[in-house]
Amino acid sequence: MKDYIATIVKNEKIAENVYAVTLDLGEPAKARCGQFGNLSVGGTHLLRRPIAICKIEGNTVTFCYQIKGEGTQRLKTLGVGEKLNVLMPLGNGFYVEETEKKVALVGGGVGVFPLISVLRQYGVDKEISAYIGYRNKGAVCGVEEFEKADKFTAVTDDGSYGEKMNAVQAFQADLAKGNRPDVVLACGPTPMLRALMKVTAEENLPCYVSLEERMGCGIGACLVCVCDMTDGKKARVCKDGPVFDACDVIL
Ligand SMILES: Cc1cc2nc3c(=O)[nH]c(=O)nc-3n(C[C@H](O)[C@H](O)[C@H](O)COP(=O)(O)OP(=O)(O)OC[C@H]3O[C@@H](n4cnc5c(N)ncnc54)[C@H](O)[C@@H]3O)c2cc1C
Ligand code: FES
Repeated sequence: MKDYIATIVKNEKIAENVYAVTLDLGEPAKARCGQFGNLSVGGTHLLRRPIAICKIEGNTVTFCYQIKGEGTQRLKTLGVGEKLNVLMPLGNGFYVEETEKKVALVGGGVGVFPLISVLRQYGVDKEISAYIGYRNKGAVCGVEEFEKADKFTAVTDDGSYGEKMNAVQAFQADLAKGNRPDVVLACGPTPMLRALMKVTAEENLPCYVSLEERMGCGIGACLVCVCDMTDGKKARVCKDGPVFDACDVIL
């Protein structure tokens, strides 16, 4: 983990309310899939904002972000050549075992971005099926990346792009047709993850979920991001996660 003063090389809109910022770190960027960076958006925003690492290419790292509040609004206004402080890589990330050949990615909302990093890391060695849910056609992004998967199913809440269903329903429909993965990796809104965890528990499928909690330090020191574990203990999403075995975490 390193605190970089990076240079913005691109910051542009990729979908309705969604932007991608590419930073030059000045040295080869290193991270595993599912890790994140804590971006200092400057101004009066003292707390950094955690954003998943989407793409790593040479010295550059790309983060895709949805405009939510003041921090991401401010990030949007930063231009090419400006400096941005980023602490990365943070968190544990996704791991796929050697024996797990067939991987299902299930994502929705801003959860689609870390799944792009999984595809980029494991796409060559594994057989990957991606089930991605968007709000509507305007929110669709990352398609050119997900199309590199062995199978890509895009769905929307309103049926304006792909079938009208959510990512978990799309995954379940394929499961019913006999397309059973060795492992499921997921990221998305908590209700989506809950629904998925119910399915994977019933089907006895290994499942790893990446959680989104409000964060402070991002490095395990402030305890802002704790979540409940099934063994009664607490875990820090930033340091012990953000990826957890679905059997270990209570949502
Ligand atoms: C590990 C991790 C990875 C993330 N990756 C991405 C990503 O790739 N792309 C992306 O767009 N967003 C991602 N997020 C969410 C992102 O951090 C928040 O949307 C962002 O911090 C909001 O900042 P803001 O100043 O714009 O909004 P704020 O003014 O801080 O908040 C605006 C609204 O967003 C809610 N919110 C803020 N932070 C979070 C959060 N962490 N989880 C859920 N709701 C939140 C607030 O409750 C509030 O309603 C990630 C979060 C985590 C923890
Ligand atoms: S954000 Fe500080 S401990 Fe996780």
